Formats: sequence, C-alpha cells, structure tokens
Amino acid sequence: INSPLRLNNGVTIPCVGYGTFRTPADVAEQAVADAIEVGYRHIDTAAVYGNEEAVGKGIKDSGINRHRLFVTSKLWNTERGYESTKKALDESLEKLGMDYLDLYLIHWPANQKQFGDRAAEINAETWRAMEDAYHEGKIRALGLSNFMPHHVIDLMKTAKVAPAVDQIEVHPGWPHTQEVKYLQAHNILVEAWGPLGGQGAKVLTNPTMEKLAAKYGKTTAQISLRWILQQGVLPLPKSVHPDRMVQNTQIFDFELSDEDMKTISELPNLGGQCKDPDEVDF
Ligand code: A2P
Repeated sequence: INSPLRLNNGVTIPCVGYGTFRTPADVAEQAVADAIEVGYRHIDTAAVYGNEEAVGKGIKDSGINRHRLFVTSKLWNTERGYESTKKALDESLEKLGMDYLDLYLIHWPANQKQFGDRAAEINAETWRAMEDAYHEGKIRALGLSNFMPHHVIDLMKTAKVAPAVDQIEVHPGWPHTQEVKYLQAHNILVEAWGPLGGQGAKVLTNPTMEKLAAKYGKTTAQISLRWILQQGVLPLPKSVHPDRMVQNTQIFDFELSDEDMKTISELPNLGGQCKDPDEVDF
C-alpha cells in the first residue's frame, strides 16, 4: 500500500490512502493510530470532517515521524477566496498540529448553479492562495476534489501551478470512466473517494461482485479496491475496524483479468448518493 506513485511535481504518494470521512472525532484518534499501526502511511482528512484535531493526535500517538507520512486535507466550501483560503489552511495545520501538509485540495468546485459567472473567478482566487502557500512550503502538492474536466479546464486558464491530484467519487457502478481518462491524460493523479461505495451504493453485496470475490478468493471490498488500483487510480478506503483496515491492504497478491475489469466497469449504478459537482448547493 505504500509503493510510491509520483505526482506531476515529483512528490511521491503512497498508492493507497486511509480515508476518514464520517469518522467521528471521538473515534478518529484511535482509528488513525490503528491504521498507522497496521501499515498505512497516507492519511486523508478534511476540514469539514471535523476530525483534524483527532487525526493529528492519532498520528502523534502512533509515534511515527511526520516525514514518513503523507497527510492530505481539504479546503471547505465556506472558505473559498484568496484570504479565507490562506486562513483556513493555517487553521487546518494548527488543528492537525503540523507545519506542512503533503497535499491540500479544494474540496468542491464553486459551481455555476450557486455562483453564476463568478464561479470560475472564485476557484481561480482560491487556487492562487494555494499556490502561494505551496511556494511558502506549507503544502508539498496542490490538488482538487470533485472537479470535473470542465472545471479543470477553467482553472487551468489562470493556474500557474498545475493540479497534481483530483479526488473524485469512483466505485463500481460509478466509474467516471471518461473523467478518469481525461485527468490521467493531463498528468493529474486520480484518487477515489467512496471506493467501497461508502455513500450507500450497494457495491459490497452486489451479486456480480460476489461472484468475482468467490472466483479470486477475495472479498468484494478487495475486488473493488483492486479494480480501482488497476486503473492507476488511488483508492482511499476507510474503516474503523483494524481487521477491515488490514483486509483493505491485501490487494497486491492477485490481478483482475481484462474481462473482469470490464465487467466491473460496466456495472449499472448501484445506488447511493452519487453527487454531481455542478448540482451540489453546499
Ligand atoms: P467500518 O468503518 O465500520 O468498517 P468507503 O471507503 O467507500 O467510504 O466505505 C466505507 C464503509 O465501508 C464504511 O461504512 C466501513 O465501515 C465499510 N468497510 C470498510 N472496509 C470494509 C470491508 N473490508 N468490508 C466491509 N465493509 C467495509
């Protein structure tokens, strides 16, 4: 899980990350310490998760040197714009108890529905603040989350530093195939949130997934994570249970055939709240 992928600015990132969305603050400290204990070196959090302080404590508890970890956080939607972005980053660092982040993401693009013609400008100003923090050494890499290609194209009109990452929802039944292709062709590493269908998509109990799990002698969670990895996409599974944390790392001792990759990629939408970044109004 820690074999390094190289971002477009040369920074390396462990190829599986530990997700902490919906991990409450009172659980996150122990969960993160456990995750590091079982081997994760890449931890993904966000200001809006409300657990940055606990995540920071879990990291401290683990006793591991900060420099041996890859830590990501994200700028929440209420903090967009140049000044508030800089302030929000400092607050995240303070809560985490760190003086730099490995990766900082804009959590959601400002969209036209909410901001009309100002959307692109808001994203550009937010990005400019992130670029400045990058040059100041507070962030080792910059990225996006939930940006679809058209948002990336708009951002690139003014960006001086290209995004290294885009973290989008990817799981069986919601593959975002065209978007993944576009991002990869532009040298942007795709990270998968909700890789197990975490938002309510019935991935883990899907009969096709169960058939494949039986065929490979793996669990449906492992099949899903492997399908993500084999596309060159970086999965961010989360679990608060150490046995599942471990299970979610055991995905390097088998390979899905091309045909089985295709079968999974063609699964219909399995439900859940698949969010459209152009429609969200938070
Ligand atoms: P729990 O934390 O109780 O283990 P996602 O990463 O797609 O957001 O999905 C996370 C959800 O899937 C959580 O509810 C988590 O529950 C559950 N989960 C994580 N790993 C596994 C696994 N290996 N098998 C079954 N469920 C899992």
